[in-house]
Amino acid sequence: MFKEDMLKGQTLLITGGGSGLGLAMAQRLGGLGAKIGICGRRAEPLKAAVETMRAAGGQAAWATCDVRDPAQVETMVDQLEAELGPMSGLVNNAAGNFLSPAEDLSYNAFNSVVQIVLYGTYNATQALGRRWIERGAKQHHVLSIITTYAWMGSSFVLPSACAKAGVLALSRSLAIEWATYGIRFNTIAPGPFPTEGAFSRLMPPGAQKQLEEANPLGRFGEPHELADLAAYLFSPMAAYINGETVTIDGGEWLRHGQEFSSFTDMPREQLKAMMAAMKPKKG
Ligand code: COA
Repeated sequence: MFKEDMLKGQTLLITGGGSGLGLAMAQRLGGLGAKIGICGRRAEPLKAAVETMRAAGGQAAWATCDVRDPAQVETMVDQLEAELGPMSGLVNNAAGNFLSPAEDLSYNAFNSVVQIVLYGTYNATQALGRRWIERGAKQHHVLSIITTYAWMGSSFVLPSACAKAGVLALSRSLAIEWATYGIRFNTIAPGPFPTEGAFSRLMPPGAQKQLEEANPLGRFGEPHELADLAAYLFSPMAAYINGETVTIDGGEWLRHGQEFSSFTDMPREQLKAMMAAMKPKKG
């Protein structure tokens, strides 16, 4: 579907780009001609990812950075721009999450996740946004990875739910405020995608099969599906999309967020008989 050089001329920073969905996006966007800068806390996965992208013929660079610290974010952007040239786009992908009953969260547990997800997004967006406004070039895009529970809320992931709701608000706010500077903002809301980082923290042993079957499409997402969506949103075809959220979850949140959706778990014939029995008799 996509031409090989569709993203040529773009230079994209992907936070948390050394592993998981960040890496899948880095490889796909790089494979379509974008220069890719990735950052994260650990050097080894970043280095390995950049080597793989370079071996595939791409131009890529890495820098370590904890997105919670604005000074580290500034230094990281300086380093990557020195190597790759000015950034044109940003993927706010770095995240932290784990399952915990809310009443058991320490202050630091709540703060860690909110710092990574919300402040990390703010720090990276502010660092690049200020540069872009100063430079005056007008074709920029900030894509932030949220989740369907950013608007639904969710049990057992309270810090992440609060932080992702904040990222959605940030994206929608700046989509309007910074449109005058030619900076677009969009979000992708993924459902369950099996990556080591997410599933080791979010998928209790034995729950995988049940959750997969509970998805309307009967499966989890595949990282390349999300990476292709990101590629489209960075392509010239999406130039008029601004302030939008694209959900990619197989229909999961619609099914489980709706009041009567659990009835779909019943055998269909039994369900029909039940509803037919409730139907008022004619005459
Ligand atoms: N349940 C409850 N509390 C937890 C927890 C869990 N599963 N995991 C960590 N915490 C608490 C810690 O106990 C600590 O609080 P305390 O100081 O009061 O004891 C606090 O969270 C910070 O943990 P720490 O490991 O020191 O912080 P960190 O900054 O190194 O790690 C996390 C941040 C906790 C988000 C960690 O899970 C992480 O690094 N995640 C990044 C990758 C990721 O989450 N990927 C999935 C994205 S979907």
